[in-house]
Amino acid sequence: MRRGLFLALSAVMLLATTSLALSAQTLVYTRKPDAKNGKTIYEGGCIACHGADGKGADEKLTEFKRPDTWPDFTRCDQTTPEPNSAWKAVIVNGGPYLGFSTIMPRFRDLLSNDQIDDVVAYIRTFCTNQHWPRGELNLPRAIVTEKAFPEDEVVWSTGVNGSGAPGFETHVIHEQAFGTKGQLEVDVPWQFQNSNHAWDNHIGDITLGWKQVMYSNLHSGSIFALQGGILPPTGSTRLGGAGTTTFEPFASVDQLFKTNTWIQFQMGADLPVDTKKSPQSLFWYTALGQTLSPDNRLGRQWSPMVEFLATRDLVDGAKTDWDIMPEMQVTASKRQHVRVNVGVRTPVTDTAGRSPQVYFYVLWDWAEGHFWNGW
Ligand code: HEC
Repeated sequence: MRRGLFLALSAVMLLATTSLALSAQTLVYTRKPDAKNGKTIYEGGCIACHGADGKGADEKLTEFKRPDTWPDFTRCDQTTPEPNSAWKAVIVNGGPYLGFSTIMPRFRDLLSNDQIDDVVAYIRTFCTNQHWPRGELNLPRAIVTEKAFPEDEVVWSTGVNGSGAPGFETHVIHEQAFGTKGQLEVDVPWQFQNSNHAWDNHIGDITLGWKQVMYSNLHSGSIFALQGGILPPTGSTRLGGAGTTTFEPFASVDQLFKTNTWIQFQMGADLPVDTKKSPQSLFWYTALGQTLSPDNRLGRQWSPMVEFLATRDLVDGAKTDWDIMPEMQVTASKRQHVRVNVGVRTPVTDTAGRSPQVYFYVLWDWAEGHFWNGW
């Protein structure tokens, strides 16, 4: 029993070290972008609208009304979550390509690929605080495995029983970034169960969590965060509620590779205060995936991934439950701020009484605009 745990831990450590070793070359451009050259381009083609200071040209001199999503390039909180590819998509193809204003022209025929990389590098210099984790490290969200990047998003995630009594559970998860490295999370589960042809619904155990990024490095493509959560016993014990307050600490390590392949680990414990009501347990999750995007990585993003999910009660003689879940996330809106994901979670060990479940979610990154804007 202890040996199984030890082996699993060693496997996670081994994977983590190999991924770090492999990533030494990550996110290196074929040619280092030249911000100085970018400044010249900016002064020629962008300054009339975006201003010398990156906040925007004097509104008396520009002819257009600024949209709500108008970028102030000095605002690190707004610019750092944007990956370079999102900016590049707009500069190459114009605002409407990502559902933004038509006032932002396209520069496809005026600037070369290298010149666009240079001007992006120059716009990055307007944010002078280097402590913010960069949006490139905001990997596609898996259905179960929690990632390390701090988010501004709402996720509606539902799991449906594949067999047995009809029932499903929906989580409404609100995540909000605070400061450079913090994030608050509130997760409200809602359970729907059909017994004797009548639907019943109940609230489950609510999670309140705080995530803190401990380390992030754009060059190596790595990010590491710790989260502490508390689950007051808001749910009914008859429907799987713990019946006692539970603490949930975990660590997340994500690694992005140059090929747009990535791996995410999450490892933690559920620690109920009253272990007579609910046992302590450990979990360790891995999500391995690849993001594919047409149009030189500027178009719609498809992210096939597979999650390996292990949980184990911390009681003598308990077995480790392993599940495997292939899934597909895709950006639904043009702006890529609304994404959907569908997967099937299948138990592979200790399968008695555990049936496959179909999962899906809708995710809305609300910092990028209203749900219905940008389609
Ligand atoms: C005619 C005015 C105009 C010019 C010239 C212009 N822009 Fe813009 N740009 C805009 C407007 C307006 C927006 C805001 C679009 C929105 O939010 O709907 C914008 C948005 C952007 C964005 C933000 C996209 C995002 O994800 O928030 C970037 C990056 C950008 N412009 C870069 C540039 C660069 C680089 C140049 C020069 C090569 C340039 N712009 C020239 C008007 C202009």
